[in-house]
Amino acid sequence: MTITAPAYAKINLSLDIVSKMDDGYHNMRMIMQSISLCDEVTVQCELGSGITVQTDLSYLPGDERNIAAKAAKAFFAHTGIDGYKTRIRIKKNIPVCAGLGGGSTDGACVLRVLDEMFETKLGHDLLKKLGGGIGSDIPFCIAGGTVLAEGKGDILTELSPIPHCYIVICKPPFAFSTPELFRRVKIDKIRARPDTDGIIESLKNGDLNDLSRRMYNVFEDILPKGERDIANIKYALLDQNALGAVMTGTGSAVFGIFENETSATNAYENLKLIYKECFLAETAGKIEIPN
Ligand code: C5P
Repeated sequence: MTITAPAYAKINLSLDIVSKMDDGYHNMRMIMQSISLCDEVTVQCELGSGITVQTDLSYLPGDERNIAAKAAKAFFAHTGIDGYKTRIRIKKNIPVCAGLGGGSTDGACVLRVLDEMFETKLGHDLLKKLGGGIGSDIPFCIAGGTVLAEGKGDILTELSPIPHCYIVICKPPFAFSTPELFRRVKIDKIRARPDTDGIIESLKNGDLNDLSRRMYNVFEDILPKGERDIANIKYALLDQNALGAVMTGTGSAVFGIFENETSATNAYENLKLIYKECFLAETAGKIEIPN
């Protein structure tokens, strides 16, 4: 049995940190949005045993350290399905260590695909719960769409879908460590916060201009290095007529929002000359999960 499916990247229209939890994790408030940039995930199951992952990036782990393998392991452990050799192949199009949820979306995709393959009909909530045990962004990536994510990223509220628009992404040639960025957070020292409620209102009104103006990511204020590079990408995107530009997740990718295809394509063509890792995408909708 073999199934191939797309695993969509995400961007954070807003990212706020509300408080620190007793277990060291942070209580988040963020708006997540799926975009068309995607990895291609192929899951093959045949009689036998073991889980392997193969990607076209040699430095990504092919064993149980890979999120995709962890997802398959969690699926088989939960369902009790046994006796299969699982081969996962991933064509990586989403840049890694970018804040675009590349690993999380691959893991979520493996859960969705195995649920379909074995007709287990676990449903959205259970898939989300299994995913949440592996990584904080996986619950959102199960169905994607336009969502308010709170808690560790596992308390999800569906929002009015964003008006269709184009996204230009630039990733500088360095990355931030997610645990390190979280360690730098001092809740009472956060100076600027995104207007998450304002964005929810703009989504209701279908007002892309208003939404874009309100985007912000609190991590932008506490970057250990490369702040200037992140700011420069934002200026470059705004200079190319983006309605708004912000870093996604724990970076280091920065995206800009464009209302029409021509301005997005022009911006992409121009920025690609400066940033090697530059991508043009559009918004993507929610995936329906069979119950
Ligand atoms: O869950 P995930 O593996 O994606 O998280 C990576 C790291 O980010 C965690 O080990 C933790 O240090 C930090 N984190 C956090 N609060 C969250 C999510 C992640 O402190 N809500």
